Amino acid sequence: MKTKTLWQTGATIFTASAFGAFWAVAAAEDPALQAPEEVQAIEVAKALVDPSIISAGQRSFVKCQACHMVGENVQRRAGPPLNGVVGRAAGTSEGFRYSPGMAKATADNFVWTLEMLDAYLKSPRDIVPGTTMGFAGIPKPDERKGLIAYLASYAADGTRVETATE
Ligand code: HEC
Repeated sequence: MKTKTLWQTGATIFTASAFGAFWAVAAAEDPALQAPEEVQAIEVAKALVDPSIISAGQRSFVKCQACHMVGENVQRRAGPPLNGVVGRAAGTSEGFRYSPGMAKATADNFVWTLEMLDAYLKSPRDIVPGTTMGFAGIPKPDERKGLIAYLASYAADGTRVETATE
């Protein structure tokens, strides 16, 4: 399964104690995600306390807005709303009709950990074969980090989470 493969390459870019809750979710879904040495990098945790990175992510989100909403009173567009997507099981926004590729990811217990989100935003089709997300990907790591920090600042109900102090 892709999750494990990426995991074992040690391609960790993010994570830290601020994301403990997300890791707890991910680890509950998949024991392969419990490797403690991977829960070390701190970039997104830093991002969460650095409002400028979240703001940069907010500016990048313009690229996503044609298809995705965050915040309160979200609606489905071409893509599902992204409130609370960090740490959530893939393909589980209620009422959204996902592609068979994403449905397979859901069936495989694929979770949007920071790593998997980073990899998906870099190259959606490589991570979820057959995904209908019509988006080439974000090549720059810093830009992806900002986007993920921005997404992580929205709780599932669309409110901003406390750690995101803007
Ligand atoms: C042209 C429309 C479009 C654009 C632009 C787009 N997406 Fe998507 N996105 C989709 C669709 C459609 C899906 C569902 C894919 C599937 O079912 O395979 C999706 C799925 C996702 C998911 C998985 C959601 C879930 O519920 O599991 C994430 C995360 C995501 N997109 C993030 C982004 C981000 C961040 C951007 C901007 C950098 C972006 N997308 C740009 C259409 C788009």
